[in-house]
Amino acid sequence: MQKTNILAILITLVLWSCNSSDDEYTAINEPLEFSVPSNFPEAIYDLESNPPTTIGFELGKKLFYDGRLSSNGFISCGFCHEQKTAFTHHGHQFSHGIDDLEGVRNTPAIQNTAFMKEFAWDGATNHLDLFPIIPITNEVEMGETVSNVLSKLKSDEEYQKLFASAFEDGEVNNENFFKALAQFMVMMVSADSKYDKYMRQEDGGTFTDEEKEGFAVFTNKCASCHTSDLFTDDAFRNNGLAPNPSLNDIGREEVSGDAADRHKFKVPSLRNVELTAPYMHDGRFGSLEAVLDFYSNSVTDSPTLDPILNQDGELGIALTENEKTTLLAFLGTLTDETYINDERFAEY
Ligand code: HEC
Ligand code: HEC
Repeated sequence: MQKTNILAILITLVLWSCNSSDDEYTAINEPLEFSVPSNFPEAIYDLESNPPTTIGFELGKKLFYDGRLSSNGFISCGFCHEQKTAFTHHGHQFSHGIDDLEGVRNTPAIQNTAFMKEFAWDGATNHLDLFPIIPITNEVEMGETVSNVLSKLKSDEEYQKLFASAFEDGEVNNENFFKALAQFMVMMVSADSKYDKYMRQEDGGTFTDEEKEGFAVFTNKCASCHTSDLFTDDAFRNNGLAPNPSLNDIGREEVSGDAADRHKFKVPSLRNVELTAPYMHDGRFGSLEAVLDFYSNSVTDSPTLDPILNQDGELGIALTENEKTTLLAFLGTLTDETYINDERFAEY
C-alpha cells in the first residue's frame, strides 16, 4: 500500500515537472467562452476575427497592468482604470498620467466594451483594438510610442513566451499586442448588479418600493438617451452642460469636424455609476445629487442642445425632491459587486 503511494507521488511529480516545462507551457491555449447576458443586446465586437483565448486573455491582462507601456515605466492602463471603481480613476476630475501631467477629460469606466460602437467621450475610434494607441501616445497619459513598447516587450522572455502561445504566428507585433489587450477588455462584462437580477428574475433581484418608483421615473425621464440594459444609446448628444471656457472642449466636433456636433459627448453608460464619481466628460460634478440638480435646474440652451431637453422652451428635466430620492435609489441598483471583485480582472 505504502509503496503504491510513493509510486503515485513520484509519477505525479514527474508529470508535474513535465507540465511546467517550456514546451508544455507553449502548448496550452484554449478558447475562452464569451457569453452574452440574456438581458443584453448582441455583441458588436467581432469575436470571430479575435476570439478570446486563455493565454491571449492572460497576456492582455499582463499588458493592461504593465507600466512599461508608458515612457517612465510607471503608468499602466490600470493606473487610471482601477477595478474597485469600475475601472475609473476615482477622485480625479481629470486623468493625470506621465510626470503628473493632467489631461482634460474624466476617465470613463471600462465595462461591456464588446457591446459598444464608439470609444472615448468624442468617439475618437470605433474599434476597440485601435483604442490603446490613444493613451499610449498621448503626451499627458503614457507619453510613449507603440514601437518603443514593442521593443521593450520583444526583449522580455516572458512576453515572448506568452505571445508565442497566444497567437498562431507567435509574433510580438502590433497586431497581436492590440488583439491581446482587446481580448482582456472584451471579457470585462458587468451584468450581475441587482438591476440585472431584477430583469432576469433571479435570486437577489427584488426591488424595494423606492427602487421600483425610481425605475419608473428613470424610464420616463432618462431612458431616451440612457437606453437599454447598457444604459446608453451610444449616440453623441449635448445634455446642456455650460461649456467650460478654460478647457474649450468641443467634443464630437473634434472628430467629425462638423459644427453641428459642437459640445456633443457620448452618452455614458450608467452601470456602476454610484462608484464612478466624478461625473461628466470633465468630471465637474462630485456627486449624483449634483447631477440630478443639474438636470432639473441648470441645463443650458445652445444651438446643439438635445431637443429632448428643450420642450417648448422648458429647459432640462423637471424632477421633484421625491423623484430625485427614488432615482438615486434606482441608480444604486446598477452597482455590480461581482464585477469589481472579479479576480479574473484584478491586478495580481
Ligand atoms: C492617464 C490616465 C489613463 C491611462 C494611463 C489610460 N487611460 Fe484609458 N481613458 C482615460 C481617459 C481620460 C479616457 C477618456 C478619453 C477621451 O474621452 O478622450 C479613457 C478612455 C478609455 C476607453 C474608452 C471607454 C469608453 O467607454 O469609451 C478605453 C477602452 C480605455 N480608456 C482603455 C485604456 C487602455 C487599454 C489603456 C492602456 C493602454 C488606457 N486606457 C490607459 C484615461 C487613461
Ligand atoms: C438628451 C439625452 C439625455 C437625457 C434625457 C439624460 N441624459 Fe444623462 N447624460 C447624457 C449625456 C450626453 C451625458 C454626458 C455629458 C457630458 O459629459 O458632456 C450624460 C451624463 C450623465 C451622467 C454622468 C455619468 C458619468 O459617468 O459621468 C449621469 C449620472 C446621468 N447622465 C444621469 C442621467 C439621469 C439620472 C437622467 C434622467 C433624469 C439623464 N441622465 C437624462 C445624456 C442624457
